[in-house]
Amino acid sequence: MKKVIIGLTEEVMNNATVAGYEQQSKNVMEFLNNKGIKINKKLETKEYFINSFLPGFPSKAWDKYVGGSTKVVSEDIRIPIQADIVITGKCHCRCWHCFRINDRRADLSFEEIKKCINELHDLGTASVGITGGEPMLRSDIREIISLIPDDMEGLLYTTGHNFDEDFVDFLEQSNISRVIISLDHYKEELSCSMRNYDNAFFDAINAINLLKDRNLYTAVTVCVTDKLLHEDDLENYFNFVKQLGIDEVRVILPIPQGNIENYDTKSLYLKAMRFVKNKRMLHLEDPSYPNIFNFCEFESASCIGCSAGANYIAIDNTGLVTPCVAVPLSFGNIKEKSIKEIFNDMKKYFPNSAQCCYGRICSKEISNQNVDTSVTPLDVPTSIRIADKCIKRPKRAALFEAFAMASK
Ligand SMILES: C[S@@+](CC[C@H](N)C(=O)[O-])C[C@H]1O[C@@H](n2cnc3c(N)ncnc32)[C@H](O)[C@@H]1O
Ligand code: SF4
Ligand code: SF4
Repeated sequence: MKKVIIGLTEEVMNNATVAGYEQQSKNVMEFLNNKGIKINKKLETKEYFINSFLPGFPSKAWDKYVGGSTKVVSEDIRIPIQADIVITGKCHCRCWHCFRINDRRADLSFEEIKKCINELHDLGTASVGITGGEPMLRSDIREIISLIPDDMEGLLYTTGHNFDEDFVDFLEQSNISRVIISLDHYKEELSCSMRNYDNAFFDAINAINLLKDRNLYTAVTVCVTDKLLHEDDLENYFNFVKQLGIDEVRVILPIPQGNIENYDTKSLYLKAMRFVKNKRMLHLEDPSYPNIFNFCEFESASCIGCSAGANYIAIDNTGLVTPCVAVPLSFGNIKEKSIKEIFNDMKKYFPNSAQCCYGRICSKEISNQNVDTSVTPLDVPTSIRIADKCIKRPKRAALFEAFAMASK
């Protein structure tokens, strides 16, 4: 059972307050409330979820998020508060928009993933995303998920492939607090053709039904296309997933990398930002409607910004550390150096959270420099050459200012 709470109530604030960081907790919750929040409370566990981006609370992961963000702004310490691990590069789909090449190289071993999670834990990471390729293709997926310690929370990014009752029962007992399922369209035929996989729609719906039966926090990701916006199909999409009972819709826009390296997204971005923002506000106070979470709005300078390389990193399936799953630059391999060393070396290029999507910024520079992108992530010297031209402005995004103000 869940209860939906609109806005910042005393109950929510009490549960979001982290001991020793009372003012920071207050500032951040008020900041988010000003953007408009709808909170899901899971009644069985008394956990509160703002969205799939921030850890649920009260929890040790939330404490680490609030405490870590405070240290980042007040002590100039670098912490990868959030990290994604690409546990496999392999995938059974061929999505039109995928920023990853279908990667046949050897994936990190279980032991290497274990070492990676331990290192992230020691660096203060609060949330770890398990992603791919398709993470469900790994036969040791349960063992990998079981590596997530109690003071970190896990997210699982998946198409829903291979989900069954037994797996979802396992998830319920694990430290995965949110599952994010890709569902590109409410029409089965289109959904499957966009993924080039005949069972894409079935897999997603089956997984959502299983997850919702157990009341596990479930978000869907939809990558907006011109067609979805043009035909107002996005509204139909929202209504479709509402009826499935999902908690959140993550609206993302195509990042011009991988299969869509040269995709011109400018007019789509402008249209989508306006359209999605209107829908979000329209349904914000309706508890029966899923939370609409617009990535472009949330990761803009006026909110959390782009944390790539600054407070967020991704480790790809071969061990390369990249600033974000969608950024094809690499800065070292965890098989050769510690994550701490690689992450600290990245400081020069990623001193702070950026004001807009680094994936978009660097794709322009990659194209300007005529770089061969047949193998990504690019090697370290090439990545440094690109990153040197894209150094993120040292001004923090607004949410971090809320932490900074409280720390003065
Ligand atoms: C890389 S996939 C990995 C997990 C799983 N294979 C899946 O598709 O859900 C994670 C998410 O990234 C999205 N994605 C992939 N390429 C993208 C791009 N170029 N722009 C925006 N989102 C993209 C996918 O639609 C998916 O929701
Ligand atoms: S978006 Fe996900 S499912 Fe689609 S090809 Fe990429 S990794 Fe595979
Ligand atoms: S590079 Fe783009 S997708 Fe990655 S964290 Fe930044 S805003 Fe998000």
